[in-house]
Amino acid sequence: MSAAPPEPGPPAYLPFTRPSIDEATIAGVAEVLRSGHLTTGPQARALEAKLSAHCGGRPVRVFNSGTCTMEIALRIAGIGPGHEVITTPLSWVATSNVILAVGARPVFVDIDPVTRNLDLNRVAAAITPATRALLPVDLAGLPVDRDQLHALAQRHRLRVVEDAAQSFGSCWQGKPIGSFGDFVSFSFHPNKNITTIEGGALVLNDEREAKLAEQYRLQGVVRTGFDGMEVERVGGKFNLTDVAARVGLGQLVHLEAFTTRRRELARIYFEEFDRPAVRALGLQLPPADWASTNWHMFQVVLPEARLTIRRAEVMAQLHAAGIGSGVHYPAIHRFALYRRLGWKDGDFPHAEYVGRNTLTLPLFPAMSRANVVRVVDALAAILKAHQPS
Ligand SMILES: Cc1ncc(COP(=O)(O)O)c(C=O)c1O
Repeated sequence: MSAAPPEPGPPAYLPFTRPSIDEATIAGVAEVLRSGHLTTGPQARALEAKLSAHCGGRPVRVFNSGTCTMEIALRIAGIGPGHEVITTPLSWVATSNVILAVGARPVFVDIDPVTRNLDLNRVAAAITPATRALLPVDLAGLPVDRDQLHALAQRHRLRVVEDAAQSFGSCWQGKPIGSFGDFVSFSFHPNKNITTIEGGALVLNDEREAKLAEQYRLQGVVRTGFDGMEVERVGGKFNLTDVAARVGLGQLVHLEAFTTRRRELARIYFEEFDRPAVRALGLQLPPADWASTNWHMFQVVLPEARLTIRRAEVMAQLHAAGIGSGVHYPAIHRFALYRRLGWKDGDFPHAEYVGRNTLTLPLFPAMSRANVVRVVDALAAILKAHQPS
């Protein structure tokens, strides 16, 4: 008697993101571990060289986060107490925390509700004699308009620190983000399109800035010859290990394939969300950009006024259906730290609305078309069951 075919089990849990690490990278990491050289060394230097090639030959230094990269850029630019830096209220809180960390004041400007990025049309009105820099974010990988950004910066003699944590692999008018501009900061956190586990990179303008970045990266130390050591400034402990750098090198070779796959999956999301019954639910989709973004995330904005449940309940029901989701991000100025510094509800209505209703859906290269269909079906069913009567 032949055995009955196994009952199909429930589909595997679908997280909202998952890194793809290939076997060659795992073997490469094992080699580094066996080599005896674990911390910053040849792998980190090789990663810097590859990143520099990606960025049109500009100097690049790697670090152990995409947070310290921005803080170090601000320090190199001489930004500190008494200075203001213009940024977006809709980002990971690192974006504005680094401004506070150097003793400067963040000046938030509301987002454009369509792109969900800093609204550059509102920036000029926020510039004061104390303004020193612009710190925009490419949320979900969608680049801020670089022509407008750098024209503004030039007109007002401001430095720019591009928080490109999420936009490695994106481009502007065909040029890779990082290959032009002023400071450009990337993150290689595991949720990003390529990862070094934790890590980041800073693109700089010249070797002088690169040398300063190296000093801020490691205790302010400058070495000469075999035994020379000098310290002229306070630096931190921000160096990237060779183990982490080896992961990054293994990831980098897949960058184009990862971006292509993310774009294909995003297109499938658009097709599925375009089904009439789903479209009628009134979700706000991200801009359908097929030229610039790396599709780091696929985020919808829930139609708050047309639902009888809150976002947390939608997420709980997706989770119960085996689907992960995320929130990127609550508006920064509403956090207690920022309220104590003077911001309040109502200051940036677009960022507050998106911050309350944004929902990050699963998107990572190993996903299938069926995974996308499953997410859209599940989300549509939840929203449909919670319409006001
Ligand atoms: C927009 C943005 N800025 C800054 C960061 C900070 O990067 P890291 O986590 O590598 O310090 C992140 C990463 O989470 C981010 O998404």
